[in-house]
Amino acid sequence: MYQVNLEDKVALVTGGSRGLGRAMVLGLARAGADVVIASRKLDTCESVAEEVRALGRQALPFAAHAGQMESLDALLEATYQRFGRLDILINNAGTNPVTAPLSDLTPELFQKVFEVNTKGPWYLASRAAPRMAKHGGGSIINVISVAGLKPPAYQGFYAATKSALHALTKVMAAEWASMGVRVNALAPGSFHSDMFDNSAAQLPGFMEGSIAATLQKRVAETDEVLGSVLYLASDMSSFTTGTTLVADGGYLAL
Ligand SMILES: NC(=O)c1ccc[n+]([C@@H]2O[C@H](COP(=O)([O-])OP(=O)(O)OC[C@H]3O[C@@H](n4cnc5c(N)ncnc54)[C@H](OP(=O)(O)O)[C@@H]3O)[C@@H](O)[C@H]2O)c1
Repeated sequence: MYQVNLEDKVALVTGGSRGLGRAMVLGLARAGADVVIASRKLDTCESVAEEVRALGRQALPFAAHAGQMESLDALLEATYQRFGRLDILINNAGTNPVTAPLSDLTPELFQKVFEVNTKGPWYLASRAAPRMAKHGGGSIINVISVAGLKPPAYQGFYAATKSALHALTKVMAAEWASMGVRVNALAPGSFHSDMFDNSAAQLPGFMEGSIAATLQKRVAETDEVLGSVLYLASDMSSFTTGTTLVADGGYLAL
């Protein structure tokens, strides 16, 4: 069987403290990578860093807000100071604080969701890519959502900001291919996490609707998305850039 080998690689995962991000951090570390774990709360990043160290890899926990550009500058600087390189960048941090009709939403909320889901990922990737290129290139993965490809009701800002990141992914891939930096989008369907549980708590029927909207008639666990992440992160996907890998239990097929 082909084993993903990420030894000597350095990966950075935003939103790496919980949910899919934590699963990615541990999956990357098991494959041999050293990992930078970023989220707003340092203590939860530190706990995941301990898990990475227990796997025999190096970890840098770092508090950074994915929607604040100066915070992302500091994150990148800390990464290069500690490891001197970055090979894999995963823009995973995302927010979907309100599941409600468009007419109930505010401009302030639009700004907040846009900054975390679209502007921050663009900023971090665009500042990282030229530096990644200096050490032989790398792989950038932008975590979008099937909601950005087939937008459902009551997730307007979330879907719009993920669609925008989907578009930016293709532009990044086009602009950075010559530098050896591949950029792909990962579009998961519903999986169990704090974000999913929060939406389910806000909207009666959300859980049932999410299950019914898949061919497999279920919500995934975070580890079920991991294979797609390792594929895009590693040389297994060396001829793949500007594309979108979907792991959605058949949501888009319905
Ligand atoms: N759950 C789903 O069903 C689903 C489906 C499709 C796509 N996705 C996408 O998958 C990604 C991960 O989602 P998840 O469900 O694993 O989310 P989650 O369980 O809510 O975890 C979110 C992670 O992002 C961090 N985070 C949140 N806001 C942040 C901010 N402003 N700055 C920095 N870090 C921030 C959180 O840590 P702190 O609180 O410490 O900052 C946490 O580590 C997101 O991009 C999401 O949109 C999720």
